[in-house]
Amino acid sequence: MLQTPSWWQTGVIYQVYPRSFFDSNGDGIGDLSGITSKLDYLRWLGVDALWLSPIYPSPMADFGYDIANYIDVDPIFGALQDLDILIQQAHARNLKLILDYVPNHTSDVHPWFQESRSNRTNEKRDWYIWRDPTPDGGPPNNWTSFFGGSAWQFDEQSGQYYLHMFDVKQPDLNWRNPLVRQAMYDALRFWLERGVDGFRVDVLWMLLKDEQLRDNPMNPDWKPGDPAYARQLGHYTEDQPGIHEIVREIRSLLDSYGERVFIGEIYLPLSRLMHYYGEMLDEAHLPFNFQLITTPGWEARTIRQVADEYEKGLPDGAWPNWVLGNHDRPRIATRVGREQARVAQMLLLTLRGTPTCYYGDELGMQNGYVPPDLLYDPQGKDNPEHSRDYERTPMQWDSTANAGFSAPGVTPWLPAADDYPTYNVAAEQQGPRSFLTLTRTLLNLRRSLPALTLGSYQSVDQENDTCFVYQREYEDQRYLIALNFSQQEQIIKLPEQGQGRILLSTHMDRADTLDLSEFRLRGNEGLLIQQEGLI
Ligand code: GLC
Repeated sequence: MLQTPSWWQTGVIYQVYPRSFFDSNGDGIGDLSGITSKLDYLRWLGVDALWLSPIYPSPMADFGYDIANYIDVDPIFGALQDLDILIQQAHARNLKLILDYVPNHTSDVHPWFQESRSNRTNEKRDWYIWRDPTPDGGPPNNWTSFFGGSAWQFDEQSGQYYLHMFDVKQPDLNWRNPLVRQAMYDALRFWLERGVDGFRVDVLWMLLKDEQLRDNPMNPDWKPGDPAYARQLGHYTEDQPGIHEIVREIRSLLDSYGERVFIGEIYLPLSRLMHYYGEMLDEAHLPFNFQLITTPGWEARTIRQVADEYEKGLPDGAWPNWVLGNHDRPRIATRVGREQARVAQMLLLTLRGTPTCYYGDELGMQNGYVPPDLLYDPQGKDNPEHSRDYERTPMQWDSTANAGFSAPGVTPWLPAADDYPTYNVAAEQQGPRSFLTLTRTLLNLRRSLPALTLGSYQSVDQENDTCFVYQREYEDQRYLIALNFSQQEQIIKLPEQGQGRILLSTHMDRADTLDLSEFRLRGNEGLLIQQEGLI
């Protein structure tokens, strides 16, 4: 049992994609002052921490995940002072602020890379991964970039290839070089001293690569049309020996600043993901658990299995977490439909562990339409279907032009999704059964019922496998969550469970008492039920 849980254990994290949140200065791109002006909304909604995707100076080849200076703010987003204000204003509202930290690669215009590429004897040459061509002039091995094509780029001037696991404008840093580590840790210190509450660390599981640069096996299941990142199996580019030492170093640095959170972006199978908590729980606090995003299909049976196996696989004392959407994957309301997304939201906010919500998902926002000539994301360059621009369209604030994201008359960097006149904050705040009202009610319940944050998790056996039922229990309180993953009405039979009182239906229209031995869930309905007369 937890003695004093940390804020990142009881709290809910909300991901802001700064370009798309709120444009306060009419240039069509969201900014830091825009985020500050919406803090009251986030407080009203009931989240506890904001994670900002990168806000550092960048040529924006990968929208800020290509950093040209780790210790400043890009003028598109404002100035350093605007970030100080945002931190201070967030803290004044009891909101935490988490920054994105991108250690795997810099931008190719970062001064370190400029120096490194200038000639083979430069003292920063070894800060990146340079190799000679093969005798026939080809790249040093078969590694492919996550965005398509070879991960090696030939540099005419110095006659060697450099490694870029992502875009050609994102050269990979050499984390085997202690000077790189020191410089990158200095960047962390810079922000910790300014008061940020932690970091989401980008591509954490790929920081080290095989020293011998052995070829990766190709993924036998990959077919043309699948995303480029799945083309190879990352045997020699992912989760390499030595990585945990780095993860521990980052953690101990954060710990030296008190209660800061360390979240790791890690796409790995469960058993390997768990290692990132550290043998002594001395690595990431929250290795991101992406299974609600990556598990194929959306079926009660599979999701139950995922939740049970995750719970079972957690090391002793490790704190779980769940992610339903992010800036890299299609939105949940697009994947499963807006009605079923309400069930998914109840799932996210009632499972055990820290939830991370992607901006706009609280409205039931769907992927937007982006005309081909506006697609920009490097992941879409080989196949526009895989562009991530669709899930990055402007936050839908109200029904005025540009969804209230940019002033009328301004052309936002991406157009607002067509359905914004109906699905937006202002309209949904008025709707007693809107997606937003549902999300806010769930967040309120989560805050007021300790069982939903601190309680145990136990899935419940029952025969209807289109529904997932589980229990959260804490001291003398017990709650059942019953989720219908289908569009049809379903009957659930739970022997020996007594009576229950509905605290919330995702349809937001019932609060009756149920006989738990047999009850009905309408299509796309989820229920949060307080069990009575048991304890
Ligand atoms: C992470 C980010 C993604 C970015 C990539 C390269 O996966 O979430 O947006 O493109 O890293 O930095």
